[in-house]
Amino acid sequence: MSAKIIVADSPEDFALQCARLVADNAKEAVEKRGQFSIALSGGSLASQLYIRLSEEKGIDWAKTFVFFGDDRFVESENPYSNFSLAFDSLLSRVEIPNGNIFPIDWNASTPALAADSYANTIEAILGEGANNIPKFDFIHLGMGPDGHTASLFPRSSALQIDDSKRIVVTNHAGLKPWVDRITFTLPLINNARTIVITATGEIKAEKIKKAIEHPDENILDLPIAGVSPSHGNLIWLLDKAAASLLGL
Ligand code: 6PG
Repeated sequence: MSAKIIVADSPEDFALQCARLVADNAKEAVEKRGQFSIALSGGSLASQLYIRLSEEKGIDWAKTFVFFGDDRFVESENPYSNFSLAFDSLLSRVEIPNGNIFPIDWNASTPALAADSYANTIEAILGEGANNIPKFDFIHLGMGPDGHTASLFPRSSALQIDDSKRIVVTNHAGLKPWVDRITFTLPLINNARTIVITATGEIKAEKIKKAIEHPDENILDLPIAGVSPSHGNLIWLLDKAAASLLGL
């Protein structure tokens, strides 16, 4: 299925577009299935996007279940924590029950045990989809300057997982912060109903062009090219600089 590309006119428009995408998908999910499951991202964009999302009307947070597409294996008080970023910018600002928020288990004795426990939690809440892989309604991803997404870094072992049995794994950091990561794998990501990739800045334009125009690009070199929903929708939300090589 071809990807949809949205180019925002300004940072305010970017955040508005992102909030509307979440709200529209949340409304449809609750109407059709009685709940909305979303996996949030980390990165420099997330905080601003989530502050604007916290102001969006019409999202039934009591029926929304929030997970994290990746996180660093650190305590929630650690500034590196993606949970902490989302809590400060979004979750503490909306009426969401604590029981609807599912951070990784940063108290697990090892990153691998945290990954296994997270996979079990996802399966318990979402159930197993038709192909034994849980199906998220919405996954928000960023893209690093090296083309990584979630914590799927170039040349990393987590990228090579293509079986449905391993939906969350641990991975070593490919960029700072140099801490162990817990990350969704591509089979879990690509089973989502809607995936939105947000990216800004000219530094990312070439990798975005490659990923969109050459989807068969070697994902070991360009992990974001591995994001290709099997049945869902893929939306790229970009600013003009990040979209500058797409000839739009
Ligand atoms: C993380 C993020 C990561 C992020 C990209 C994009 O844990 O670091 O989940 O995958 O989405 O690095 O981040 P920037 O928008 O800051 O480049």
